[in-house]
This record gives sequence, structure tokens and C-alpha cells, in this order.
Amino acid sequence: MNWDQARKWFSLRRPQQEAPPRAFRPRGDALHIVRASSLCIASGKGGTGKSIVSSALATLLARSGRTLLVDADMGVGNAHILQNRLPEHSLVEVAEGRRCARDVLVSCRPQLDLLAAGSGVSHMAELTPLELQLIAGGIEELEGEYRHLVVDSAAGISPQTVSFAAASDVVLILTTPDITALTDAYAFFKVLLQRRGDCTPLMLVNRATDAAEAQATAERFRSVARRFLQREPRLIGWLPDDRAAVQSIARREPVVVACPESELSKSLVRLSVALEQELARTHPRGLGRTLLRTVPAPASKRAPA
Ligand SMILES: Nc1ncnc2c1ncn2[C@@H]1O[C@H](COP(=O)(O)OP(=O)(O)OP(=O)(O)O)[C@@H](O)[C@H]1O
Ligand SMILES: [Mg+2]
Repeated sequence: MNWDQARKWFSLRRPQQEAPPRAFRPRGDALHIVRASSLCIASGKGGTGKSIVSSALATLLARSGRTLLVDADMGVGNAHILQNRLPEHSLVEVAEGRRCARDVLVSCRPQLDLLAAGSGVSHMAELTPLELQLIAGGIEELEGEYRHLVVDSAAGISPQTVSFAAASDVVLILTTPDITALTDAYAFFKVLLQRRGDCTPLMLVNRATDAAEAQATAERFRSVARRFLQREPRLIGWLPDDRAAVQSIARREPVVVACPESELSKSLVRLSVALEQELARTHPRGLGRTLLRTVPAPASKRAPA
């Protein structure tokens, strides 16, 4: 099914009865965690709220253990803005081999550090294999020192964007109720499955009016995914449309800091508790380590455009 067909399906399909969530099967081994467990916030479509959600979740997760926020929107990153930081250094220098990742770390608040992306650095949006390996190596160097890694993903389905998601332990696909966002989330899910067939992402509906709209949105997505991909993400929660999001951006603070009493922040706190449980169930594979193993070797040539 191509994007146009997907859009048509999302327009036509009506919500169906909710399928029961997948049963959680605990895995018995590997209780010894040596690397941070990683959470990638992705969406397909731009502007769905990935950065707002990442900044809030990273802030909340940092309350229970050292957390590293990785801005994987490499060319036009803005995670630093939402943490009120103006970094002198960024992943651009790591990709260029001029600095190691530790040297570009930005401390945001107690137990929360950031690897900032480039700001208006177009070539970072399409890293060469060598640049991606340098960044992966930098993350690998640091990931043993953190409990959680939160990846603020770029929009789209570029190989680089999908690589970060495929290498993360937990993938959270964000969508809004809009058909365009749903369609792009479907495209992202499809490409992610092509890269990592064993991945069952979680789904978060942002900017919903109420729980019923969120459930209907998720079911619309899942019914199409079930039919055409024989796979479906699991709905983990929803977030209300809330002016607190805009206020927090104006204050350059995560919404859970700027407006802790808002409905959006309360929902994000519930979400972070649920996600922390999901992360605790994973066997952290190491984001940097997995990227190093799965991205093309630097010697390989870039595919023709
Ligand atoms: N729950 C919400 N309630 C109200 N507004 C929201 C909410 N979530 C996001 N927004 C709005 O959506 C805009 C985009 O949010 P954000 O920058 O986090 O999206 P993004 O997915 O990271 O975008 P990009 O793909 O460009 O990186 C914000 O400026 C904010 O105004
Ligand atoms: Mg963003």
C-alpha cells in the first residue's frame, strides 16, 4: 500500500472494536544492565510534538536516573531550545571528527545531559556512513554512564532517521488525530518493520480532544496496519491539546517544568511512569553499539539520489 492508498484508508475506515493489548511476556535472563535503555520518539510527519514530548520525558526520566537526551534531528535540532541552552558544541563536531561526544555534552539539569544537534546544518540531515559511525561511536562511549537515553527523532523516513529508531530499545510513534499525521506514521511504521521486523512500537496520540478520540485514532491506525502489515503498535497513552505546550516553548522549558499543573504535564507524568516500566522490561542493547553494528560501513558508497 502506498501513501495515497494509506491516506484513503485512514479517511474511510471507521473505528472498530479495540483489540486486547499484547500480553507481556517477561524475558528471564539479563537482569544485569550495563547500558542505558533507549527510547526513540518518532512520528513520520513533522510538527506532531516529538520535541515537546522528548524534552518532557527526558526531564521526568532524569528524576529516577541519569538520562541523556540525543537530538537526532541532526540538521535542524531544537532540543536545546526547550532546555534553554545555547550549546557551544554539538554533534556536528562529532560527525566531523573534531570532538568526541563527551566534549560536546551539554548539562541541562540535575541528571539530564544533552547531545545537541546542528542548527541549520543541512548536510547533517543526510550523514555519510562515516559521520553516522562517528556519532554512533560517540553515543556508545557514553551510554554506559546513563540509565536512560531519549532520542528526539527527525521527521520523515530517511534511512538515518529510521536507523536511530531501529537501534532503540523502545520506539514510541507519535501521531495526532490528523489523517496526514496518521498516514505518515503508517509509512514510518512500515519502513521501521522493514529494518527491524521484531519491533513492536508503542503508539502515542498527541493533541487529542479526549480519550475517545485518542482510542478512535489509534484503532484507525491499527486496523490499517493489521490488514496491510499484519502487525500493529500498542497504544500506550494520549496527550491533550493544551496551550501549556505553547507557553512552555515561549519559556524555553520542558512543559513539565514550565506548567507542571497543566493537563498536558499530568498526562506526561503518567506516560513517563508507563514508559519507565516498558524500559525496565527491555534488555538494553546499547543505542550506539547497535547503530555501529547496523549502519553501513564507512567504506560503502552513498546510494545515488
Ligand atoms: N499537546 C499539545 N498541545 C498543544 N500544542 C502542541 C501539543 N504538542 C505539540 N504542540 C504544538 O506543536 C508544535 C510542534 O511541536 P514539536 O516541535 O514538539 O514537534 P516536532 O514533532 O518535534 O516537530 P519537528 O518534526 O519539526 O521536529 C509546537 O510548537 C506546539 O505549539
Ligand atoms: Mg522536533
